[in-house]
Formats: sequence, structure tokens, C-alpha cells
Amino acid sequence: MSNASLQEQVESAAARFEAAGIESALVDAELLACHLLDCSRGELQSKIILGATMDSAARASFETLVGRRAAREPLQHITGKAYFRSLELRVGLGVFVPRPETEGVAQLAIDALRLTATEEPIAIDLGTGSGAIALAMATEVSNAKIYAVEKSPEAMVFTSANFARYGGDNATLIQGDLADAFQELNGRASVVVSNPPYIPNRMIPRDLEVRNFDPELALYGGDDGMDVIHLVSDSARRLLHSGGTLIIEHAEIQSQQVCQLLLASGWRQVRAHKDLTMRDRAVSAIK
Ligand SMILES: C[S@@+](CC[C@H](N)C(=O)[O-])C[C@H]1O[C@@H](n2cnc3c(N)ncnc32)[C@H](O)[C@@H]1O
Repeated sequence: MSNASLQEQVESAAARFEAAGIESALVDAELLACHLLDCSRGELQSKIILGATMDSAARASFETLVGRRAAREPLQHITGKAYFRSLELRVGLGVFVPRPETEGVAQLAIDALRLTATEEPIAIDLGTGSGAIALAMATEVSNAKIYAVEKSPEAMVFTSANFARYGGDNATLIQGDLADAFQELNGRASVVVSNPPYIPNRMIPRDLEVRNFDPELALYGGDDGMDVIHLVSDSARRLLHSGGTLIIEHAEIQSQQVCQLLLASGWRQVRAHKDLTMRDRAVSAIK
């Protein structure tokens, strides 16, 4: 069979994605072609302008990738990679794919860490998933000591690989429950940060990528979505020294609920934070 134009292949994949209800259809088609051809998006554009073609073997491989994405498998599961701040994290089935809005939550934690007067401040990430927030702190605040806990053994396969790549000697990862992890650090941490599962059990997400591919343990937080947020607040009170900072990511509609919970639990300076699209997505508080 003759070669087919790369541009046609990408456009036809984009049309298929659009028909499957994928909003970022053209970008996803380009990123899958980049993954197959091991090139950047800029390089892909040059290839397209120069009239590059795909032989039948490449077309068959591309067809397999496109079929998976059209079935709404997350792009990051297909490529095996998710980008978070300066990190390229390994992800796949069993681990939560880190989201862009969590980069802002990591920034709050990094800012709080940089403001501490301590030489080697301790920060703890509760429910670390791929390790996104913990490894952002470890790589961007090199004088800090970072600790992270994850409960899911399936997720830990990816977390461990990401810690091996980026963790250095200032990052410690354990498998366990955030409710009782790191007793040896009680009263010593400067920052506790968490993006916990917070979706109410009955609110099944509409996005098929989330509903069918993100782990349940990463998504659902009990009847009102607040179960794990309660645990995070309790653990953070145990782990932080007086004056230490807690940062919690939550759903857009939960800001008031989380603020009230924290105020009722004795936290001071409880503040809501917006993401880049001006939605309330995180709360910080001081012990
Ligand atoms: C929404 S995901 C966030 C993952 C990562 N921090 C991020 O921002 O991309 C929540 C994570 O908490 C973990 N988790 C849920 N309950 C936990 C518990 N009781 N103890 C430890 N980890 C827990 C889940 O397995 C999941 O990896």
C-alpha cells in the first residue's frame, strides 16, 4: 500500500476524536503522532509542512493509538506520561493523572516552604498519587525534606518510578494510610499539602476518561465528598508545628464547606484560593 500524508492522518484522527466527543481533538491527534514519531509538536508541524508521509506500518501503529483514544482512554495513559510543572511523570492505569490546576496548589505549598525560616523545612504530601506535588516541592525547594504517603499499591508502581527518577535524597515515599502516616514527624512539619479524593460518591464524573480510568480511591470522598478532607485536617494538625501551613485542594463547590470544617477544627487564617480560571479550588490555613 502506498504511503499516506501525515497531515491527512492527523486530520482524520482529529475528526474521529471530535466525533467521539473529545474537546481537544486536534491537539490530541498531534500529540499521539508526536508520541509515535518521537518528536515535538514543532517538529511535527515542520514534517507536515514538508509533506511527510506515513508508511503502512506506521499507519497501523497510529491507527491502534487513535482507536484507544477514540474509546476515551486518557491521552496520558496511552503515552505513559503526564507533564506537571517541570516534571515528566510516569502514569497509567491505577494512578491518578495529575491535573493542571494542581500545579497552582503545588505553588502554594512551594511558596509556604520558601517562607519558612527553618534551614531544612519538612513538607508532607498526603495521598501523593503519581508524586506530582511532592516531587515538585522536592525539585523546586532543594533545602526542604519532603515526605509523601500513598495508599494504593497499584498507584505505588508509578509513584516509586517517579520518585526514583526525581526524588533525590530529600524525598521519602511510603505506602500507607494518610490517617496515621509519619507518626515520627508529629509536630515537626512546616507544610502539609493534599489533593485528596473529594467527589461525593453519587456524583459520577461525566468525563469518560475520569469515570472509566482514574482509580476510585483517587476520586470519591464519601457521601458529601468530605470524608478524606476530615482525615487530612486531623493528620495535618498532628503533623504540623504551631504556625505551620496546611493546603488542601477541593472541588469548586466545596470552598465554603472546607473553610467551615477547618475553622471548626481550630485552624487560623483560613483562606480560599482560586485557580487560573478564577474558580475556588484550594484552601490554606495556619495551625
Ligand atoms: C485526587 S488523587 C491526587 C493524587 C496527587 N496528589 C495529585 O495531585 O495528582 C488522591 C490520591 O490520594 C490517595 N488516597 C486516597 N485515600 C488515601 C488514604 N487514606 N491514604 C493515603 N492515600 C490515599 C489516592 O490513592 C490518590 O492517589
